Amino acid sequence: MSNEFIPNPEEGKRVYDLDRAHVFHSWSAQGAIKPLAVAGAQGSYLWDYDGKQYLDFSSQLVNTNIGHQHPKVIKAIQDQAAKLITIAPQHANDVRGVAAKKLADLAPDGFNHVFFTNGGADAIENAVRMARIHTRRHKILSFYRSYHGNTGTAIAMTGDPRRWPNEFAYGVIHFFGPYPYRSQFWSNSPEQETERALNHLESVIKFEGPATIAAICIETIVGTPGILVPTPGYLEGLRKICDKYGILWIADEVMAGFGRAGEWFAFNQAKARPDLIVFAKGSNSGYIPAGGVIIDQPIYDTFVDKVFPGGLTYSGHPLAAASIVATLDVMKEEKIVENAREIGKNIIGPALNKMKEKHSSIGDVRGMGVFWAIDLVKDKKTKEEIVPYNASGKDAAPMAELGAECKKLGLMPFINMNRLHVVPPCNISESDAKKGLEILDQAFAVTDKYASA
Ligand SMILES: Cc1ncc(COP(=O)(O)O)c(C=O)c1O
Repeated sequence: MSNEFIPNPEEGKRVYDLDRAHVFHSWSAQGAIKPLAVAGAQGSYLWDYDGKQYLDFSSQLVNTNIGHQHPKVIKAIQDQAAKLITIAPQHANDVRGVAAKKLADLAPDGFNHVFFTNGGADAIENAVRMARIHTRRHKILSFYRSYHGNTGTAIAMTGDPRRWPNEFAYGVIHFFGPYPYRSQFWSNSPEQETERALNHLESVIKFEGPATIAAICIETIVGTPGILVPTPGYLEGLRKICDKYGILWIADEVMAGFGRAGEWFAFNQAKARPDLIVFAKGSNSGYIPAGGVIIDQPIYDTFVDKVFPGGLTYSGHPLAAASIVATLDVMKEEKIVENAREIGKNIIGPALNKMKEKHSSIGDVRGMGVFWAIDLVKDKKTKEEIVPYNASGKDAAPMAELGAECKKLGLMPFINMNRLHVVPPCNISESDAKKGLEILDQAFAVTDKYASA
């Protein structure tokens, strides 16, 4: 907590009341929520007006990859505000060009151009539009168990219950990706899972009609719906299938990219490259709303003479561009991607595996870097989830109690359905990572009560 902070519960109540009176919140029944009034945040911590401090094991919505209030990035935003706070996207702008070059330099050779958006969902929309025009086909394939954003096509592409009330876009088909712990393919090994998942994908393509499919868009590591790391060879196989049928691969790196998985892009773990790379969140830690699409040359070439029919007032906003430039510089200078990789390998992975042995409610742990899921079950043998899929209210009680226990113990968790995700900032220190893991170890006593020993 910052040394200057003086607890002020009265101010906390004012902030809370104002919020409840006027702020309409995302994904919520408005009467059912009690938002925490946050007074401040620094590094891996945030605190409320009572002076209670929380270790941020959520990175908010898995976006503050460099932690809260990084001074160099704040300074870059302030300097840019003083220099040129806004300029329309049709003009050339110095910092926008630098941001685009730095992003393109992180991608494989041939990715030279960036289309900037305001966040992840609109980046997905525009990647899909590029793919449809480039291929002159309309269908998009995406995973069950995925999230691609809350706009027309992006929410239709999403493979979780958030799609159900919002399914108004056309041309989206879902398929199953690899998930060895709960295999759809009755596989016995990661290799078998890869083979069978690719077989399934190819069947879906055949039955949908290869000549109707513009792109396959997948989260390179599925994030919110379960932290599902592709099994060995899956991305390479997907690339081959795409090439065989003239389909593009759109890599959604919104959550998995920019250090989260201990890599700049999560697809770097494979020997395969996508055609379009969608980014947002970690590219600037969410300090200013930003996202975009990094475009491979053949797709760029389609739009050299043909108009790209899309744009946004704030595409490449100078404040967003400055925050991206500063974030990428800081991540390189401070070896933040390397830190995430090491913390995952040496601290989080081993600790979670130990917890899995110890706790009756932990069925599976999986992930890499600072991107891990703990899959909570009623029974390790049957793998029955500790709360049913898409549970709410009383049915979701074990997970609600787990969340409350974490907060009581001073840790801000990320919880989705029957899973707790360990997603701290990529620059978390060893000691804070250990501290958070000890809190989790203690908190799982709550879910153990619901699981058979
Ligand atoms: C993988 C993935 N894609 C897209 C999005 C949408 O990004 P945004 O909320 O910035 O629109 C998200 C957001 O959580 C995401 O996790």
